[in-house]
Amino acid sequence: MSGFGFASTAEDVSRGLDLRGRVYLLTGCNSGIGEETLRVLGLRGAEIIGLARTLEKGQAALDRHGVPGTAVACELSDPASVRAAVETVRGLDRRLAGVIANAGIMALPEPRTTLGLDLQLLTNHIGHFILVNGLVDLLDEDGRVVVVSSGAHFMAPEIGVDFDNLSGERDYQPWRTYGQSKLANLLMAKSLARRLGGRQTANALHPGVIQTGLGRHLSDYDGVLDNIGRDKLKTIAQGAATQVYLAVHPDLANQTGLYFDSCQVKEPSKAAQDEALAERLWTESEMIVASL
Ligand SMILES: NC(=O)c1ccc[n+]([C@@H]2O[C@H](COP(=O)([O-])OP(=O)(O)OC[C@H]3O[C@@H](n4cnc5c(N)ncnc54)[C@H](OP(=O)(O)O)[C@@H]3O)[C@@H](O)[C@H]2O)c1
Repeated sequence: MSGFGFASTAEDVSRGLDLRGRVYLLTGCNSGIGEETLRVLGLRGAEIIGLARTLEKGQAALDRHGVPGTAVACELSDPASVRAAVETVRGLDRRLAGVIANAGIMALPEPRTTLGLDLQLLTNHIGHFILVNGLVDLLDEDGRVVVVSSGAHFMAPEIGVDFDNLSGERDYQPWRTYGQSKLANLLMAKSLARRLGGRQTANALHPGVIQTGLGRHLSDYDGVLDNIGRDKLKTIAQGAATQVYLAVHPDLANQTGLYFDSCQVKEPSKAAQDEALAERLWTESEMIVASL
């Protein structure tokens, strides 16, 4: 038990920590819980490599909060952009205390296929797969990879990942396809945890339900949030807590391959615990990336 819970904020879980000298790379740093993560890690003295679709958006986020660091353009749905971001980061010649794979898109109303892949899978999973694998050797000895998944991973197809329909074109359902991409986030963290050595860790999380830009593709976002229940929503400060906790809290040293919700370990779906599925996704992702 961490002592933190639903109402804990990113400031709460990092209070008293001195992160000076540590560098964290964060995707989706310009909005929602990613921006709050940038702000609070900066508040504790960390330097941020802030990835956003454009350099301007990343730099503006750093400037808004007076956080020291470097903005890097990274369009996760464009492998060339992700590879260029990897090269830019490598050129900074810094060790990374953590990589926080936070950016994402949710529940596009119509199927969108890019490079033969469903756009949610491409953005949320494949883009991060390229990024993380391109940077993993820069991690500190006790460096951490934090992958922002979602409780929506429970909505993935019954077979977990539908490898015969990665384009998403057949029988498209917005939440199921989003759920599959978030299951892929979880499975990537699990596979990575097995591959990392020594004291390096990889964990995944559900941040809670938070009203952010993520709902931009929903025609009735307010209605969806009403249905969930307004009392079950987290503020952005609370929504950023679990990823900040996983990235920086000393309690998490040596905790790896796990799934967290409200700063507590939680059992994910059966599919998310399937090691064979995790390995298959890793291998298929490598093949996909090699072809892109
Ligand atoms: N909010 C929730 O209720 C909730 C629940 C469960 C999980 N999550 C997860 O939490 C994470 C953060 O979401 P949020 O709620 O903070 O939403 P948000 O405010 O929409 O932030 C998402 C971030 O991802 C970036 N992004 C989207 N597509 C991208 C792409 N193709 N390339 C690069 N960056 C891209 C966005 O950039 P732009 O601003 O340029 O679009 C933005 O910075 C997501 O992974 C989401 O799945 C959120």
